[in-house]
Amino acid sequence: MKHLMVTGGCGFIGTNFIRYLLEESDFEGRVVNVDALTYAGNPENLQDMAERFPGRYVFVKGDIRHREEMARVFEEYQIDGICHFAAESHVDRSIVGPDAFVQTNIVGTFNLLELARRHQGRINLFHHISTDEVFGSLGKEGYFTEETPYRPNSPYSASKAASDHLARAYHQTYGLPVTISNCSNNYGPYQFPEKLIPLMILNALEEKPLPVYGDGLNVRDWLYVRDHCAAVWAVMKQGRRGETYNVGGNTEMENIRIVETICDIMDELIPPGDGRSRRRLITFVKDRPGHDRRYAIDCAKLTRELGWQPEESFEAGIRKTIHWYLDHVEWVDRVRSGEYQSWIHSHYGT
Ligand code: NAD
Ligand code: TYD
Repeated sequence: MKHLMVTGGCGFIGTNFIRYLLEESDFEGRVVNVDALTYAGNPENLQDMAERFPGRYVFVKGDIRHREEMARVFEEYQIDGICHFAAESHVDRSIVGPDAFVQTNIVGTFNLLELARRHQGRINLFHHISTDEVFGSLGKEGYFTEETPYRPNSPYSASKAASDHLARAYHQTYGLPVTISNCSNNYGPYQFPEKLIPLMILNALEEKPLPVYGDGLNVRDWLYVRDHCAAVWAVMKQGRRGETYNVGGNTEMENIRIVETICDIMDELIPPGDGRSRRRLITFVKDRPGHDRRYAIDCAKLTRELGWQPEESFEAGIRKTIHWYLDHVEWVDRVRSGEYQSWIHSHYGT
């Protein structure tokens, strides 16, 4: 791959992945980052890339829902590989407004697959990024494997499931060189502060209530974002075409434990004014409708076939993440205030 299109590169994982590719991996080609810059996309995340890697990083503002727009990018940049992150990604938003999820996650993916099919001679790989949420919810026991049947429970996970099925079908029917990875909950730098971990860090910093859904005993498997990036690159390089790989952090935790851990580290780093632990801010709120109880990933296939395994412990990863947010208050302010949206407006005219 010499001209790799990365969709959604201005979001949380896409940003980390592009940084990983250019700064750390053995990828030698050019990255064409295509992003519509929704509320979740921030081009400032990668502003230094074009200068630091001359000719190897291009940003194109583009919407995967518009096939003609994407067709122009395929042509202009002679795209020969795709790593597809772009999506509406927040479960709570999908409950309030599922429409954008169907349009971007399903129709948008379909558009890219169709274009890849049209340019099939040139396309070496279509890597599709998905989630463990397509498998539904586990009881106290067991793990998701690549063989687990799909049972998505939210409009978000249903839209991701639909896109996974399309990607798989394009391999089976048209022989498109597709790989898929289904990962667990990522955390780390650049995550938009609507998701659990950054929301709790920032509320704890500001000593605001920490809203925990339901009884707080829902379990997620947490994966440090750099480990995820390394896994994606390993699959792209060596994964068998037509195969799916689960990516997990081997770190199952109840939500309440995550929030308590964040409170304790924050208390240590910035002792609260009145000396009372930030745990006092924990507030149990109404549960999310259809809230999946437990996710847990078995990533043995990825370890067995490609030698990948997560390197970061949760203890170290969460500290790094907290430090990143404390060191980037300006980034947080701009993302939250919508200031970067006005920069986008003046810069891109939309
Ligand atoms: P994110 O919401 O932070 O970023 C999504 C990016 O996609 C943004 O930059 C946004 O502007 C862009 N985008 C949205 N709609 C678009 C459109 N129509 N056209 C072009 N760009 C568009 O998401 P994330 O957390 O970085 O997730 C990336 C991918 O990983 C998604 O496919 C998501 O389903 C998957 N995933 C995420 C997690 C997680 O924990 N964050 C876990 C499993 C899977
Ligand atoms: P989230 O970060 O939205 O990821 P996902 O729903 O994709 O797993 O939420 C992670 C878990 O944290 C999930 O069980 C819902 C819960 N949660 C809260 O308890 N409070 C919150 O304010 C948020 C955003 C999430």
